[in-house]
Amino acid sequence: MERTSRIQGFYKLDMKERLKIVADWAGLTEEEVGALGNLGNLPREVAESMIENVVGGMTYPFAVAVNFRINGRDYLVPMVIEEPSVVAAASNAAKMLREGEGIRSLAGPQEMIGQVHIVGCRAPHYKAMKILEAKQEILEEAKKSSPTIVSIGGGPRDLEVRVVDSRMGPILIVHVIVDVVDAMGANTINTIVESIAPLVERITGGEARLRILSNYATRRIVRAWARTSPESVGGREIAERIVEASIIAEADPYRAVTHNKGIMNGIIAVALATAQDHRAIEAGAHAYAARSGVYKPLSRWEIDEDGYLVGSLEIPLQVGTVGGATRVHPIAKIALKMLGVKTAKELSEVMAAVGLAQNLAALRALVAEGIQRGHMRLHARNLAITAGATGDLVDKIADRMVRDGKISYEYAKQLLEAYLRGEKV
Ligand code: MEV
Repeated sequence: MERTSRIQGFYKLDMKERLKIVADWAGLTEEEVGALGNLGNLPREVAESMIENVVGGMTYPFAVAVNFRINGRDYLVPMVIEEPSVVAAASNAAKMLREGEGIRSLAGPQEMIGQVHIVGCRAPHYKAMKILEAKQEILEEAKKSSPTIVSIGGGPRDLEVRVVDSRMGPILIVHVIVDVVDAMGANTINTIVESIAPLVERITGGEARLRILSNYATRRIVRAWARTSPESVGGREIAERIVEASIIAEADPYRAVTHNKGIMNGIIAVALATAQDHRAIEAGAHAYAARSGVYKPLSRWEIDEDGYLVGSLEIPLQVGTVGGATRVHPIAKIALKMLGVKTAKELSEVMAAVGLAQNLAALRALVAEGIQRGHMRLHARNLAITAGATGDLVDKIADRMVRDGKISYEYAKQLLEAYLRGEKV
């Protein structure tokens, strides 16, 4: 009988029953079923309250970057990531940037943009004025739909209107600007735009099509900056090469993407540890990098008049410390407690600071010893473990592979066998 992926009522089944179906489909062994079905530190009710069709869990390592001093306060930074070297690099760069004031980071009000896209509206430029004329009325309607956020000092703040041309004629776009305080804000914003859409339709005579937040969070910009002596990065020459690397990223979008990827290594690792919507953060960040029409680095490195290396980073960050998975996932709660951040603003400041440090670590490694040395050592350790090494032997075999410049599973196996025969590795 041909297999079918059309499974009626899959979502209604118990997790175990779903897992059984998947196991039969994929021919999973008992051991594999056991591994996949293990939810680790996530209670089943929580997992099933987060997403649908859950069949198991997947654990990523949770690490802590040390040495961070941000805005005069020390932080232990939780990071969840699958890539070797990132946490070590962040800790390393944080050490370089500790001197003096440490890393400084500043976010503004936590404002998100909600959008209503109106189509089929006659005289859209005139209607744009009518929307602005009715601003107070629309904002009042918006406030009525979001009493909680208003009661804690946030809520709708302003209205903007744009008219853009499109293949189906002009589109009138209403932006409602909302201070979402400590939430990421998606739910609040989406409720608000849905509530104001009928009024906007009445005023414009058009039809509301999309009513949703924009993840291009240009009202939630965070700026981080830091200054360090050339000695702390390995001398004047290395500091100058870091500046060159920054300039290369400014000149070449292909490089800028990789440069920014290094920044996101740090930011997304913190986002994962604290259960943020990291897709929103990524989407917003890269759009911001391309805001001039050309994709640019989110950070810059320069040398100041004292010969110090100075870095600055500007990025939109949409994060929350209340609501969503942040307050549901037990480990995310622990991550927030470890950070000791009280507000979304502070969390975003920490994340931008981590991004800047991560960037420095990457550029330093690139212009000094090259990125592969650190990576290769961790890679070699992984291979040694996969080949069956345990305890001290892992490092012994990894070191030998790095020394010999031969980093492969086969060589790890060969070295392990040699060791078991009593030979020295
Ligand atoms: C690797 O994950 C990140 C880097 O490629 C970033 C960079 O090149 O700046 C090292």
